[in-house]
Amino acid sequence: MNLSSFDFLPLGEDTEILPFDCNDTDLNNFLFDDAKNYLGDLMAVTYLFVDRQAQKTVAYFSLLNDKVSYDPEERSLWNRINRRISNNKRRKTYPSVKIGRLAVSKDYDNKGIGRAILDFIKHAFTNGNRTGCRFITVDAYAKATGFYIKNNFDFFTEKDRKDATRLMFFDLKPFKDAQIRAKQAC
Ligand SMILES: CC(C)(COP(=O)(O)OP(=O)(O)OC[C@H]1O[C@@H](n2cnc3c(N)ncnc32)[C@H](O)[C@@H]1OP(=O)(O)O)[C@@H](O)C(=O)NCCC(=O)NCCS
Repeated sequence: MNLSSFDFLPLGEDTEILPFDCNDTDLNNFLFDDAKNYLGDLMAVTYLFVDRQAQKTVAYFSLLNDKVSYDPEERSLWNRINRRISNNKRRKTYPSVKIGRLAVSKDYDNKGIGRAILDFIKHAFTNGNRTGCRFITVDAYAKATGFYIKNNFDFFTEKDRKDATRLMFFDLKPFKDAQIRAKQAC
């Protein structure tokens, strides 16, 4: 299923939120009870995909600024990250965007919408950026880590492997390079 079948809109203070259920109470409640407060407090911006015909919210995601930081206990991971960055630009932190929430309605799941949303975010942060942003991060529900792995996210650490959520990241630079190569090949 293609995202272009749906309306895309940033959530505003006055947006009427159409019915949504992703089978996860916390994620449902965030959309209806918290997302506008986060917006008002400049803590996260939420975006909606809406099926106007069916009068339903198809999916939503919220984004906030983040950073990827050096952890002395995770030297080998940090070396792996640093190897991707040219010597003169190596730092102890790198600019990132966090997916604070991402959920697809149970009426529309398993149709490629989650993947299309991640692609949408990857494109949004590699084209016409207003600020530098090297990584996407997410505190993935343990039950959803497989979804992020299929979309080329990596784990930061093994320390959280038994936790309810796991910190994961995606490096935007190889994605951007692949976009450039694809354009050149056309
Ligand atoms: C997880 C979620 C966002 C996935 O969205 P979706 O639209 O159903 O996923 P897609 O159809 O785009 O799936 C893309 C691929 O990931 C796989 N996948 C989807 N959900 C998965 C999961 N929970 N675990 C492992 N793999 C998963 C699909 O099988 C598909 O694999 P394929 O390319 O081999 O066919 C959605 O199911 C959801 O909102 N779940 C409830 C809330 C949640 O867990 N959100 C994540 C918070 S971190």
